[in-house]
Order: sequence, then structure tokens, then C-alpha cells
Amino acid sequence: MKKDEAALRALAEEFGQGHVFAFWGQLSTEERAGLLAQLDQVDFPLMDRLARQWVLDQPPAEKFKDVIPVPALPVATKSDPAAREAWEAGEEQLRQGRVGIFLVAGGQGTRLGFPGPKGCYPIAPITERTIFQYHAEKISNLERRYSCVIPWYIMVSDTNEAATREYFEANHYFGLSSQAVTFLRQRMVPCMDEKGRFMLEAPGRLAMNPNGHGGCIPAMVENGILDDARKRGVEMLSYFQVDNWAVKVADPYFIGYHALRGAAMSSKVHRKNSPREAVGVHCLCDGVYQVIEYTELDIYPQLLDTDANGQVVYYAGNPAIHILSTDFVQSTYDRFDEFPWHLAHKKIAFLDGAGNLVKPDKPNGYKFETFVFDALRFVNHPPVALEIERIGEYTPTKQFDGDNSVVAARQSMSNLWGGWLEKAGCAVPRNATGDVAVPIEISPAFALDEDEFLACSSGRAWDAAKGLAIDADGAVTYPS
Ligand code: UD1
Repeated sequence: MKKDEAALRALAEEFGQGHVFAFWGQLSTEERAGLLAQLDQVDFPLMDRLARQWVLDQPPAEKFKDVIPVPALPVATKSDPAAREAWEAGEEQLRQGRVGIFLVAGGQGTRLGFPGPKGCYPIAPITERTIFQYHAEKISNLERRYSCVIPWYIMVSDTNEAATREYFEANHYFGLSSQAVTFLRQRMVPCMDEKGRFMLEAPGRLAMNPNGHGGCIPAMVENGILDDARKRGVEMLSYFQVDNWAVKVADPYFIGYHALRGAAMSSKVHRKNSPREAVGVHCLCDGVYQVIEYTELDIYPQLLDTDANGQVVYYAGNPAIHILSTDFVQSTYDRFDEFPWHLAHKKIAFLDGAGNLVKPDKPNGYKFETFVFDALRFVNHPPVALEIERIGEYTPTKQFDGDNSVVAARQSMSNLWGGWLEKAGCAVPRNATGDVAVPIEISPAFALDEDEFLACSSGRAWDAAKGLAIDADGAVTYPS
């Protein structure tokens, strides 16, 4: 039930945050309503606990004695009988409609410097198809292949919900049923200054940030998503991040391993390419499954070790691809009080006592977030961690150029699709380092994998001399 002004004032006073009403007298009716709506979603006791633990006191460092790399299943191949069995089991889960898709797209995407939701980024170099479109085309291919409807849940936040919804509507959900695409909004949490006080970014507006992708657990339960999934017969959710263009959505191998082992939450892992690569690392910490985030590497210097061949010993990088069983989401929600929070020291613009907006030039406050991979500590069964190759599975797009960038992702996808074209007998220009030298795009609605591409290509000749884009129906566009 919504709390009224008096109740919110009382709460704010009780927890030492009464200053958020400092400019109340000069706010319009609309601004007052906006501020009350923001305050109504604040969990005051939780924020008070976080302020005391993290801001006012020494942060509670989670330091483990015994950290070992998580044991991982080998990269799945058709020739491995165990993987074959998993594939068949995964396909069966899809056919039975037991799989849903969960996409986290609530982040602010500040590093990419793109003004809209990250999923609207025109990632494809020739057709400028967006990342969302690729995810949608993968789902429509799977629905066709397995004669099923795959519900797609997309987590957004206050910062990008309206733009994301509008984008899907304007594009007619890319041919998917609008009944099967559901947006859910994650909660926001107030930013705090170095004294643990909430900050105002305008006279009637708190500075807030989305509560991290771990916020998908309460968001699923509190927005009725879990009920919706269960009503549809969905037992597991294929989880991934919006910025991974290459991701294999609802991969049958992965689903199969998860189902055959009765897992609660499973993860893919990829070999780190350098000790300091900006990815989390899947480990067993004092016997408990954890992901140690790249920002915490210096707490565990052994995570930077390399072996005699220069390979990273703690190899299991986190591409942020998981499967969560719906029952596990519920049980994790039931103990969400135990879920850890992480804080980041940031530059946060705020109003000073006189109402002037101050844009600090050094970090002046904190943003609190939860991380979904912290749910792994609640897993009872031995964990399922499946190793993957990067190509065709992991192309994070954190910035435009450099590591983990749009440019690197485009090269990786051209290499993947160029390889398929070569298998189909087409000459593809490569440069001295072996990379494909022209832009290549293949719509996932046309072919999701190499086998399907070869089958669809039979009797066709492609011309990739200058690069090409193959559309859902096989039509070709050449770069201008
Ligand atoms: C993340 C992982 C890291 C992993 C890497 C792989 C974290 C803390 N770390 O790093 O372990 O190796 O990706 O690419 O996530 N999001 C929300 N709501 C939020 C915050 C984020 O939906 O409140 C979504 C974003 O839209 C994005 C994803 O979560 O899809 C990851 O966020 P990002 O900030 O890009 O994480 P990284 O620091 O790159």
C-alpha cells in the first residue's frame, strides 16, 4: 500500500533523512508527488543498515581462506556423448515450453556513451540492426525450430523503461507475440553522500540508481513475473546481459546440463585472456560457489597467477550467462535479506543547502547495487559451470573501441559468420592476422548456427568480396 506524505516524513525523520523535504515549500504539486513516489519505494531500514555498515563504519570485507577455480564442464561438442545427451535433453525442455528468457537491460550504459537504452545500439555494421533485434531474431528462430512460445522477460529501470517499451512497440516486437514479451522494472535505491545522507539531484528529486542486476530476483517476484512464468509452464529462465551480441539464447546444451543435473542456477564460463581482464571469476571460496568481481582482484592476488604456459590459473571468466530455475528464484527471494550489497564510490551531482546544483570533480558519494551471481552461494547442488568458446558466444560491448567494444564485437562476429560462409564454399577475404577483412552479418532468424546456415545455403552462392549482410529471408545487402 502506498504511504502518504505524513508517513514518509515520519520515516525520513526516524532514519535521519528529513533533509529530503528541505525544498518542499517551493515544489509544484507534480514535483511533490514525484518525490513522494520516489520515497515510497525506499526501504529505509535497509538503507540505514547499509549506511552504517558500509559508509559510516569499515566495510565488512568478505575474505576467504581457500579460493580455487570452479571445476567446469568442457566446451560442448557434437562428438562428446555427454554433451549430445545434454543437447537432446535441452531440446526437449524447449519443445515442452519449459524455458523462458530473462534479459537484464536496466543498466545505465554510461561507458558506451550512447544516449538510449543499450539494446537500441545499432550494432550491425551494414544494416545497423540493433542488439535487441538480434536477441529477438534468435528467439523467433528457436520458436520456429521447437514449435513453442518462449516468453521473454526484459528487466528495465526507471532510467530506460519508457524508451525501451516505445522501441519494441515501434518495431512491432520484431515479429514476436507482444503477449510473450514482458517488461519489468527493477527497483531504484537512493545514492548516499559520505555521511550516509540521501542526496537530492533537484529540489523535488532524489539521486537514485537501479539496484543492480541482483534486483531481478525481487523484481521477478514482486512484478508477478514468476507467477506468469509458472502459469506458462516455464521451469527455468535463460539469463543474459543486453550487451552480449553473440549470446546463445536458450542454448540446448546448457539447458540440458542444467535439467539433467537438477541444478538450481547454472553458469557459463570462458577462459580469461589476461589476468586483469575486466570480468568476474567463478571460484569456490571456502567451498562456496562465488564470483569474485574484477574490481576485487587485488584482494586475492592468486587470481592473477599464470601457469608455465602463460595461461591464467583462475581461468573461469564470467560472461554473465546463467540459467535460473523458477523455484530457485523464489527461494532466493525468500532469503533476500541475506543477499550481499556492493557499493561504488562515484561522482554524484547534488543540490547544496542553498539549492545550487554541484557537479563534483571527484567521487563524493555511493551507489549501492546487488549482483545476480551472488545467488550462486545459495545453490545446494554441485554447481553446473559450462565452459564456452568466446567466438559465437561472448562479445561484450562496454565501449566503442578497444577491449570489450563494439569494434571488437563486430570483428568477432565477422570472423564467426565469415567462417560459416567459407564452409558454404564462399571466398571470404582475410587479413594477415587471419581475421575476416570485410563486414559480415547473418540474421539469426535466417540461421542460428553453422549447421542451419549450411542447410539454408544449399544451392546458393554468396559473394562476400566486399562483405555482405544476409537477411531473415536470405536477401542480401552489400555495404555501401
Ligand atoms: C559485468 C559483470 C562481470 C562480467 C561482465 C561480462 C557485474 C557487476 N559484473 O560487468 O562479472 O564478467 O559483466 O560482460 O555485473 N544491469 C541491470 N541493472 C542494473 C545494473 C546492470 O539490468 O542495475 C544490466 C546492464 O544493463 C547490463 C548488465 O547488467 O546488461 C551488466 O552491467 P555492466 O555494468 O555492463 O557490468 P560490467 O561491469 O561490465
